[in-house]
Amino acid sequence: MARATAPAGGLGSRTVTDATDEPLAPHGPLPQGGTVRPVTRWGTPVMHRPQAPVTAYDDALRALVADMVATMYAADGVGLAACQIGVDQAVFVFDCPDASGQRTVGVVCNPELELAEGPDRRLDEDDEGCLSFPGAFVPCARPDRARVTGTGLDGEPVAFEGDGLLARCLQHETDHTRGTVFGDRLPTKQRKKLQKQHDKAVDDYPLDWPAGEGADA
Ligand code: NI
Repeated sequence: MARATAPAGGLGSRTVTDATDEPLAPHGPLPQGGTVRPVTRWGTPVMHRPQAPVTAYDDALRALVADMVATMYAADGVGLAACQIGVDQAVFVFDCPDASGQRTVGVVCNPELELAEGPDRRLDEDDEGCLSFPGAFVPCARPDRARVTGTGLDGEPVAFEGDGLLARCLQHETDHTRGTVFGDRLPTKQRKKLQKQHDKAVDDYPLDWPAGEGADA
């Protein structure tokens, strides 16, 4: 998921903790040393079908996830799923602040989402953006709290929970592992607005972005 930096963006108007602050890593730090890869765009078939479950918790998975981490940071994103670097595996990474500005980092394979139901369910209408449709942000209504369970890099059970942008990110990235992009969740008018913004910004995001930036994380 993209971080809105444009002044017009709802996410940009939020107070976000400085990136030097120590993130929470309840299930361990993100793997480092990966290679920045081009971000796959909406319209590529791998992004629009449910991803294959992760079944092998091996060095290849760790290398894939390290590349996802490097690519997420190079693109200044707060979350990235494997399909966004063209790999059909149900896994995502994130480094994302919650409503208080506290960052949490994590890796989730085979994510399952839990959202509040009934009177506990409140919608948050903040701006949302996706690294696979860069340069565009529009409001997207989502529950304001989310919990995700799944497995970590060694197949151990993991769980992450949060509010604010973190709740949005956990939902957005779990969606990616199911082949859903947030444009699928938008009414036609908002979808058109998103497309217009993206078209305007297209020159800033060549197809090898962010691999062409020389910005290894
Ligand atoms: Ni996305």
